[in-house]
Amino acid sequence: MRVIGLMSGTSYDAIEAAAADLTLEGETLRMRPLGRISVAYPDDLRAAIGAALPPAATSTEAVCALDTGIGQAFAGAAVRALAELCGGDADLVVSHGQTMHHWVRDGAVLGTLQLGQPAWIAEATGLPVVSDLRARDIAAGGQGAPLVGMTDTLLLRGLPGVPAALNLGGIANITVAAPDTDPVAFDTGPANALLDAAVRHFTDGAREYDESGRGAAAGREAPELLRLLLDEPYYRLPAPKSTGKELFHLPYLLRALDAVPVAEPNDVLATLTRLTAVTVADAVRAHGVTQLVVSGGGAHNPVLTGMIAEELPGVRLLPSDDLGVPSDAKEALAFAVLGFLTVHGLPGTLPSGTGARHPSLLGSITPGRLPLRLPEPAATAPRRLLVETPS
Ligand SMILES: Nc1ncnc2c1ncn2[C@@H]1O[C@H](COP(=O)(O)OP(=O)(O)O)[C@@H](O)[C@H]1O
Ligand SMILES: [Mg+2]
Repeated sequence: MRVIGLMSGTSYDAIEAAAADLTLEGETLRMRPLGRISVAYPDDLRAAIGAALPPAATSTEAVCALDTGIGQAFAGAAVRALAELCGGDADLVVSHGQTMHHWVRDGAVLGTLQLGQPAWIAEATGLPVVSDLRARDIAAGGQGAPLVGMTDTLLLRGLPGVPAALNLGGIANITVAAPDTDPVAFDTGPANALLDAAVRHFTDGAREYDESGRGAAAGREAPELLRLLLDEPYYRLPAPKSTGKELFHLPYLLRALDAVPVAEPNDVLATLTRLTAVTVADAVRAHGVTQLVVSGGGAHNPVLTGMIAEELPGVRLLPSDDLGVPSDAKEALAFAVLGFLTVHGLPGTLPSGTGARHPSLLGSITPGRLPLRLPEPAATAPRRLLVETPS
């Protein structure tokens, strides 16, 4: 089955579209990636998303406009992926949408809202669309995140030692697949969320992120600010847990800077980069991880990955590309896998990962141009993901 996965994370920098041929053979899920494209949001839509994200107040009118605008942008990305990656031929689109709110109270997730009306994608491509993948896990008592835990676990299974996957998006999440124990997956805290917020703030919006970590490299870490930031109770919560920009946003950072003023912007960037490295490393260490497969936009920041390596002597770091999964396509491919599981009647969650009462069949399905025909439910769930690299 040829599947297109669409993803935009909390950084809302771009829509990542990736396609793959997926085949289930007994306990092995074979994946042949067909490539990826990154489609930037139009400037006005991007600004509208930024203006509606927490802690901003918004209106249902704005939410309605965003649902349409994001749906149309995702539809545009899907049409391009269909033509450019799939030669015009695919069976299914899986759309994560854009997270606008992840509603966490006292560590429990009460709801989550991803916008990007899937009807636009179905209308533009003629293909059925699986969307809204997080809600069912939340209804089953789970965090609804991180949903990459399933794909990560299938990918990591069989690697030596205690392997883990780390994605450095706006938020950082890890999946640990230790042999003979249930996998765990959780958000460790911010990866780029606070860094990006700081860069935008200090440059009045002229820059979106700390390109290659240059600012952080030129700055000096401020130990007092780091200590204050590390005091955040989220880091001490046990897994399963998830977080988002509802917590880690600019006003959060500005409050910390009010308490511990740091004059030099680059010093703030250096400190925030260290904050990500330390919180990631603490989580990795707590689970006895021996090798860490890294993906996400933060993998392009050598200062950040350097600090993570420095905090984790003895742990091998490798890009997910080394396992055949391009690091910028990993999340989109993970969602392609989740939609594939859904249409085959297979659960996409691990209760040990999200904390739900049971594994769930994820998502809502929007029919394409033709009547909806689902494959026969698969008899066995996959136990591993085999990525076929182009020879
Ligand atoms: N060349 C780079 N140098 C430094 N940081 C980068 C670079 N490329 C991407 N990033 C960081 O990665 C973020 C986007 O990562 P991504 O995996 O798309 O996150 P999300 O899933 O939250 O959208 C950017 O906002 C930026 O902080
Ligand atoms: Mg992104």
